[in-house]
Amino acid sequence: MIADFQDWARSRQVCIETSLQTLLPTANIAPERLHEAMRYAVLGGGKRVRPLLAFAAGELSGASEERVTIVAAAVELIHAYSLVHDDLPCMDDDVLRRGKPTCHVEYDEATALLVGDSLQSLAFQLLAEYRLADTPQVQLEMIKRLAQAAGSRGMSGGQAIDLANVGKTLSLPELEFMHIHKTGALIRAAVMLGARCGSSLNEAQLESLDHFAKHIGLAFQVVDDVLDAEATTATLGKTAGKDAEHNKPTYVSILGTSRARELAEELRRDAYQALEGFDATAERLRQVTDFIIQREF
Ligand code: IPE
Ligand code: IPE
Ligand code: MG
Ligand code: MG
Ligand code: MG
Repeated sequence: MIADFQDWARSRQVCIETSLQTLLPTANIAPERLHEAMRYAVLGGGKRVRPLLAFAAGELSGASEERVTIVAAAVELIHAYSLVHDDLPCMDDDVLRRGKPTCHVEYDEATALLVGDSLQSLAFQLLAEYRLADTPQVQLEMIKRLAQAAGSRGMSGGQAIDLANVGKTLSLPELEFMHIHKTGALIRAAVMLGARCGSSLNEAQLESLDHFAKHIGLAFQVVDDVLDAEATTATLGKTAGKDAEHNKPTYVSILGTSRARELAEELRRDAYQALEGFDATAERLRQVTDFIIQREF
């Protein structure tokens, strides 16, 4: 029997919070204000879904907790940077994030820009600094994978597509392309980097895991679109209804909420199917999948 999901998730969330606290520069080191703002943007909030995925994939591949913690922290730093920039006036112009004023509101725009830059650099510094895989070659592949996932052919490319299409109606394949990049790429990297910290999976298993990650990466943004339309600001900790207000093409604007929810269920089934070849050790990944689909914020 594996431990209850809630207990496991809480223990992993505490683990990642403690590590991030230690890995981020303290606010009494110069430049103090930048370091304080970096800590503000990263600590004390967020569901930590990407770290949870890295931990669950690491359990599947027999990885050590120490290694996965660093990988999970690196991915979460990239994610936190993406949120800080996503909220800037030149992007989604949001004032609330994780139940607090957004970074540029609490500090200022220039600081928020530099927070994003610095979090991204810190993520790659961690991947270069700690031993994370059995061979240097695998570790280099991990670094390359995260770089690709965060870059113009991954997350930031997806963000560019998002901004270029405000007010436009996209076809379903175009929308899927955007979502797979802006959100899916980093989620996929979280799973694969967690898995590569261990060495018990063969090539075919890694490929199945990648298929799994692709499905949940897309599902994550489909659910984000639904919650933007259906949940409240208080529950989300970020302003609800922004997508419609800003004329963003989303799964809700194109399919409506009930069809978008059905699509999320289909993606959950596809994700489960990709894990069919694994035994009970994949149960944790199935549980995180359920959390991604059923979450209320
Ligand atoms: C929000 O991500 C931005 C998207 C990529 C959809 P999360 O819903 O994971 O945000 P936090 O980390 O829990 O705040
Ligand atoms: C953000 O998507 C994706 C990234 C930050 C890469 P959204 O703009 O939908 O995220 P929220 O809804 O503001 O969290
Ligand atoms: Mg956005
Ligand atoms: Mg946004
Ligand atoms: Mg959103």
